Amino acid sequence: MTQIKFVDLSAQYLAYKEEINQQVLDVLASIQYIGGPQLEGLEKELQEFCGCQHAIGCSNGTDSLLLALLAAGIKPQDEVITTSFTFVSTVEMICLIGAIPVFIDIDPENCLMDSKLLEGAITPKTKAIIPVSLFGQVSAMDEINAVAQQHSLVVIEDAAQSFGARQSTTKGEKYSCDLSTYACTSFYPAKGLGCYGDGGAVFTDNDDDAKKLRSLLNHGQSDRYEYVNIGINGRLDDIQAAILRVKLRHYKDEIARRCQLADNYTRALENTPTLTPLKLLEGNKSVYSQYSLYAPLSKRDDYRNTLQEQGIPTGVYYPKPLHQHKVFAEFAYRGRDKNSKTQPVPLPHTEAAASRIFSLPVHPFLSDEQQDKIIEVLNRLK
Ligand SMILES: Cc1ncc(COP(=O)(O)O)c(C=O)c1O
Repeated sequence: MTQIKFVDLSAQYLAYKEEINQQVLDVLASIQYIGGPQLEGLEKELQEFCGCQHAIGCSNGTDSLLLALLAAGIKPQDEVITTSFTFVSTVEMICLIGAIPVFIDIDPENCLMDSKLLEGAITPKTKAIIPVSLFGQVSAMDEINAVAQQHSLVVIEDAAQSFGARQSTTKGEKYSCDLSTYACTSFYPAKGLGCYGDGGAVFTDNDDDAKKLRSLLNHGQSDRYEYVNIGINGRLDDIQAAILRVKLRHYKDEIARRCQLADNYTRALENTPTLTPLKLLEGNKSVYSQYSLYAPLSKRDDYRNTLQEQGIPTGVYYPKPLHQHKVFAEFAYRGRDKNSKTQPVPLPHTEAAASRIFSLPVHPFLSDEQQDKIIEVLNRLK
């Protein structure tokens, strides 16, 4: 049996090698490296894939969040409600523009924003909500959008881990990135849909917002050397776009394989009292960017070591919630009771998840034989 990898980018490259090489060589020969036809083609295909009116390629997932926050007009001291159980970028970009992240807890069953806590976190300064579609499944968007609408808030889906995921909503089945005012995704190589460098995209249905986003990611220009916004260099290049177009052709098959592997794990772990896989929110179809599960308290390291000894790599997303990091510590005290440094925002499920969660290999090139071995070792964990 070949070595089990947590993410297998080399197997993926070998599978699509001819197509990818050809696409890259074509871009090299075309000398259209920035803002060329590959980017235009990719944007159109991303729109068609998820149903959103505008898909705008950009430099990475972090910048896509910054661009959405800027396009939404979020200003210093505005409050943005999000979760602390996420990759740093979500909160980092809120702070970078001087706004204040207000944390609410997650639902421990799925690690997504607990939408029931939203109302209690809203103040006159609240301007936006950033739900994070973690581990490949979309947050409870009907509930989140309803609260946002009632309070005139912008919703920015952090879809860095969920492009391709689906949810049945009051408007029928919809794709991640087509469920909010703005959505942001990442094409980091290890993501479900990854390029061979950095890349990302922002999504919106609104024509004016799309125009503004395109300006913001190109130094705030409206036209060449006409500056109308303070922006950034946040462009996606054509080599990355060309690679993504190849991978997008295979993406639905890859999602199907990930789902099959996830179902196998879930079935195999049904009678394993020591391990508790996360659950799907009702109506969700995940892309399983991670297959995450809980170990009993203080057993996670032992379990991971046992798995590693058997040649099975695992990951921990995330070992420490963001509000427990020094740089974000002040925000642990904001939210419900402002000005009080004595009452931290209660985030018990976030903190418990960080101490128990870990993730198993679920990439589309994992063989049945490899997964059988992983399941056999999991079933022996005590
Ligand atoms: C939830 C989340 N948000 C944002 C990002 C940032 O994406 P990028 O690494 O492309 O900047 C990531 C990437 O890991 C992520 O997982």
